[in-house]
Amino acid sequence: MTAFDYREGALHAEGVAITDIATQVGTPFYCYSTAALTEQYEAFAGALSGQDATICYAVKANSNQAVIRTFADLGAGADVVSEGELRRALAAGIPADRIIFSGVGKSRDELAYALAQNIHKINVESEPELLLLGELAADRGVEIGIRVNPDVDAKTHEKISTGRADNKFGIDISRAREIFAQAAAMPGITPVSVAVHIGSQLTDLAPLRAAYASVAELVTALRADGHRIDTIDLGGGLGIRYRDESPPSFADYAAIVQESTGNLGCRLFVEPGRSLVGNAGVLVTRVIFDKQGLARRFVIVDAAMNDLVRPAMYEAYHGIRTVQEKASGVVESEADIVGPICETGDTFARDRHLPALAPDDLLVFDSAGAYGAVMAGTYNTRLLIPEVLVKGSEFAVVRARPTYDDLLKLDRLAKWQ
Ligand code: LLP
Repeated sequence: MTAFDYREGALHAEGVAITDIATQVGTPFYCYSTAALTEQYEAFAGALSGQDATICYAVKANSNQAVIRTFADLGAGADVVSEGELRRALAAGIPADRIIFSGVGKSRDELAYALAQNIHKINVESEPELLLLGELAADRGVEIGIRVNPDVDAKTHEKISTGRADNKFGIDISRAREIFAQAAAMPGITPVSVAVHIGSQLTDLAPLRAAYASVAELVTALRADGHRIDTIDLGGGLGIRYRDESPPSFADYAAIVQESTGNLGCRLFVEPGRSLVGNAGVLVTRVIFDKQGLARRFVIVDAAMNDLVRPAMYEAYHGIRTVQEKASGVVESEADIVGPICETGDTFARDRHLPALAPDDLLVFDSAGAYGAVMAGTYNTRLLIPEVLVKGSEFAVVRARPTYDDLLKLDRLAKWQ
């Protein structure tokens, strides 16, 4: 990760000292690097350049409009999973005809909104959804994708596995031909795309290869059944390095895409999220206290599980660094890094080696660009934290910290109070 490096002993985001941002913006905050976002996008696009592939950035990973706009300017489309995300993608400048709508529980209103926007594709994930969409599209007609569940174990954390038969996603691949036939018989519906997504933070390509092989076989069978299948949506899922993982390279990924789908002549869509933004962002936090307990040392910081829930929710590992580079030979000891929230689950990491820290010292959590800010909440009546985008020697607050008034006025008393 070169976008967040030490320069003369101080951690920088590109050309900006993290300390300078912290002084102006306050802590905690998320900080993203335009250079890192751009580099990842271009590397992904470059690897797929020999194929007819469109990158639809999975907005759920980081839906700040400044981040989406960065990708829009590079030519990206978007994968969205709610009306809110669809509105964000459009507002950030993604053309409607480059937007794909995935998700297992799209409501009638959401489907109607997506139809009205003429987005590129709605990926249907169940029979009841197909019937509802058929009803909504009966008098206008729509080409759709159908997401299949290939029953492949992505070998990732069980909470983010989506391609096994016991996961809620997609239509069981064994029933796909039957459902495509049902769809094709509906007045407003033309099924032209097969979609698949088996999970996130994949560090092994074998499950993806298996899933793509099943999809390719299905496309051939569907064509034999008389369907005009011209599109395949390959989902997202490529992992990143948080600690010592060796995620597959974009080149190796592109090779399995070519190997499994190259002879079908389909237009391809891919939906990477984490691999484009994960290592392009950090969370900056301030030490409140360095507390020595009887059994353990606790570094208590001003960020908490409501700001970055991944460690509490998925036992996720995030690297932790001091913003001031550690002097060589400095004495370190093991510490748990915890937030101020009133539950033990509010623990970011255990047994990390850190020097003695003073109140106000700054720390960063690495690899926080994906599924960080987007999963934040206001538990303990804590404010959502700002997001900052750096480009070269400039930075901009791309989401401001709300005030306590903003937060409190969301509630109102009942009329009898
Ligand atoms: N396409 C679909 C249909 C998806 O459901 C997802 C992610 C993606 C694409 C993007 O996957 P990616 O390239 O980012 O792996 N909150 C969890 C991750 C949840 C992923 C959900 N689906 C985490 O923090 O690890």
